[in-house]
Amino acid sequence: MKYLDQGKGPAVLLIHAFPLNKAMWVPQIGALSGHFRLIAPDIRGFGESQPTSAWTMEEMADDLDEFLSKLAVPACDVVGVSMGGYIALAFWSKYPNRIRKLVLSNTRARADNDIEKAARSEMVAAIEQGGAASLPDRMLPRLLQPNPSPDVVRNVRKMIEQSNASAAAYAVMAMRDRMDFSSLLYRMTCPTMVVTGENDVIIRAEDSKAMADSIPGARFVTIPNSGHLSNLENPEAFNAVLENFLH
Ligand code: MLT
Repeated sequence: MKYLDQGKGPAVLLIHAFPLNKAMWVPQIGALSGHFRLIAPDIRGFGESQPTSAWTMEEMADDLDEFLSKLAVPACDVVGVSMGGYIALAFWSKYPNRIRKLVLSNTRARADNDIEKAARSEMVAAIEQGGAASLPDRMLPRLLQPNPSPDVVRNVRKMIEQSNASAAAYAVMAMRDRMDFSSLLYRMTCPTMVVTGENDVIIRAEDSKAMADSIPGARFVTIPNSGHLSNLENPEAFNAVLENFLH
């Protein structure tokens, strides 16, 4: 697994969204590495990691468990954005003792419904036929809020362009087939914060809120002026709530 590892202090594992890579965490690493050790891996097939075969969220959780063992990090704070949040939930269900505090950002606990699953299958077919070339134009308007800053668009486009077709297709299948964690959330004992973006069109605020309401004592925060990628679209606000929660 290729990863960024910067800063000194309590370890924080940062799990990226689809179809991005570890570079999406640069604004957090820049702002928080004075107080924390920030560890951001490329998950299977993305960024600089090796090509992959099909995977499940549970297998990705196993990857992260192995990864933390290699780094000799027994437990850490875990932050997942979107697909990273789906992986974080699977990681929590398999390895709860590895998590100190949990941040679930722009993500949800429920599984996809039939309409969402069909849209995933259609996307897999489109990627299999046309490759990853259509991904930026397909994803950018949904990932980012209306009228995004040109710098954010450029940065996100560049990351999406780095993703290869098979990795993207496998990730979409893993998201389509992920299990529903909604009924397990009452068992969460780690301090948890649920973050949503004011203008997120991929994860609706009501899904984030339902998740937060089901987690004992969870904090619920809305990041203003942001869509689905709140850590990149409004890094100042995101970093402030993250730092406050982790301290
Ligand atoms: C992501 O941003 O990781 C994905 O778009 C999430 C999703 O499609 O459910």
